Amino acid sequence: MCGIVGYLGPLNPKDVIVSGLKKLEYRGYDSAGVAILHQGSVKRVRAEGKLKNLESKLTAESFDGHLGIGHTRWATHGVPSERNAHPHQVGGISLVHNGIIENYLEIKEALLKRGAKITSDTDSELVAHLVAEQVEVQRDLLKAVQVVLKELRGAFSILVIWDQQPDRLVAFKDGPPLVIGLGQDQVFVVSDVQAALNYTKKFMYLEDREIALVKGGAVQVYSSGGVEIRKPVVELNWNADLVEKKGYSHFMLKEIYEQPQAVSSAIAPHLDPETQAVRLRNVGFAGAPVQELENLDSKEDWQDTLATFNGIARVSIVACGTSFYAGLVAKYLIETLAQIPVEVDIASEFRYRKPVLLKDTLVITVSQSGETADTLAAIRLAKEKGLKTLSICNVRNSSIDREAHGHLYMNSGPEVGVASTKAFVSTLAIFNLVAVAMGEAKGALSKQTATEHVQALLAVPSQMEVVLAYDKYFADAADSLKKFKGFLYMGRGVSYPIALEGALKLKELAYLHAEGYAAGEMKHGPLALIDENMAIVMVVPSDELFEKTVSNLEEAKARGGKIISIGTGDNTRLKGISERYLSMPKAHWSTNPLLEVVPLQLMAFHLASSLGHDVDQPRNLAKSVTVE
Ligand code: AGP
Repeated sequence: MCGIVGYLGPLNPKDVIVSGLKKLEYRGYDSAGVAILHQGSVKRVRAEGKLKNLESKLTAESFDGHLGIGHTRWATHGVPSERNAHPHQVGGISLVHNGIIENYLEIKEALLKRGAKITSDTDSELVAHLVAEQVEVQRDLLKAVQVVLKELRGAFSILVIWDQQPDRLVAFKDGPPLVIGLGQDQVFVVSDVQAALNYTKKFMYLEDREIALVKGGAVQVYSSGGVEIRKPVVELNWNADLVEKKGYSHFMLKEIYEQPQAVSSAIAPHLDPETQAVRLRNVGFAGAPVQELENLDSKEDWQDTLATFNGIARVSIVACGTSFYAGLVAKYLIETLAQIPVEVDIASEFRYRKPVLLKDTLVITVSQSGETADTLAAIRLAKEKGLKTLSICNVRNSSIDREAHGHLYMNSGPEVGVASTKAFVSTLAIFNLVAVAMGEAKGALSKQTATEHVQALLAVPSQMEVVLAYDKYFADAADSLKKFKGFLYMGRGVSYPIALEGALKLKELAYLHAEGYAAGEMKHGPLALIDENMAIVMVVPSDELFEKTVSNLEEAKARGGKIISIGTGDNTRLKGISERYLSMPKAHWSTNPLLEVVPLQLMAFHLASSLGHDVDQPRNLAKSVTVE
């Protein structure tokens, strides 16, 4: 997930672009760069690391042009470095990109055969090469980009400028957001309105597969078929409350849309900046107080964490509600990657069932608030038994955080909506890292498999932005749920806890009775429930359990069940048996849960909103259950 800023107008592009990138730094901060017109060509300045490194380079630079683009990077292909930083330049073409080009390997091969000089490890640079080739043929930037787009597969948004047409820039959006800010004889193209709000409150929102030509203060938008589209201009009259909600109607909706950056913030501290290998940072098993964690020597601390993980024979995860469901996903991750047994308990059960806790057990608590009474009691019980404890929470210095030996943070920022969303996906991301680290500590995981899991995680923010772009389909699906009396959410494997979480979201927001079930359990009772009044929401990614889950779906269909299925890509089989089919980007089995939960969150949100419920503060609930 990266941040993009483009500018065409009378102001100094360097100031406009850098101030915009500052507002977008939350979207990634591995490296940054600008490409701005100067003396008839496009001058590029890039820097590794945080934006401040680029700013210090730019103090010595001046530009006489009024067209430029800028980028702050979240590395997916190619480690964080200056040579992998955007903008990428080929000939007179300069380009910035957010997202993933799925067919980049075949494109790279073809370019190398044509003698292209490829200088980075990124997929983005390849697009610059393709556009540079095409402008020589089309002699027009817009036409060249339109031709190139036909060759690209994946989810990506790009901004391109060409020094031979210095009066324009071309933008394309498919997946990651691009918004066009309209000022007085000036235009801004940005990933998030925040980056242009200081200059304008008028915006045009690009939809997927739309392409915009920005030229001389005007904007023309075309469909992927080249037909010009009239786009509405939205004026954001933001009051303080809306600014706090960043223009969203509810905190919960804002927090759902913050999930890509929440995932980035959760994993960024724990990846080696050079190799992107997992290096859990400042966990503090050796006993440092919470306020000292940031001062730990991260190499020593990492060795201490590995030693702790190596010394355990089993894991016991204890949590409540949505956090408990994150623990259920973690069971599949840790048992698969680290080959050690994992038990997962509801805290209110754990603390009273007299659990048999063997000495080499690591007890992991999950709690967004860090104040849930039952979970706090659980960590105290574990410590009474002399066990090592690890807290995953979102609030530093919370009660549970302070009581734990080891500390990991969801790092997702304040979660205001009572229904947990971004903290949940951040926890799933953290558990992916913990499972890889435990696998390495136990020698159960090859370097290649570990890298595969990290690369899959790094792709999640961009993939999640693609899913969020489908929100209108989830709103339609939510609307179709209204006529039903009962709701059965089902899945298998790592998707089973996601079904449980989806059912909980409907319960706690729409006040409708929904039940989560393991899809393989249908024949053992729930099948009797199914008729035309029962809505079935099946989470069925294209993983190794796909066939089995689809046959469960067909059993439900045969009994009149109405099906909403969530699957991978353009799945005709699921489309054929579902009233509604919601498609997810292709992802790794271990990261599917982070994507599948988003439509379930949004369906519950839209249904609850349409029923007029207080989505941020549902009846009878509290954000933190500090009593038993
Ligand atoms: C989830 O949407 C609910 N708000 C609730 O189930 C919550 O997950 C549970 O109360 C645990 O809270 P915690 O993560 O702060 O411990």
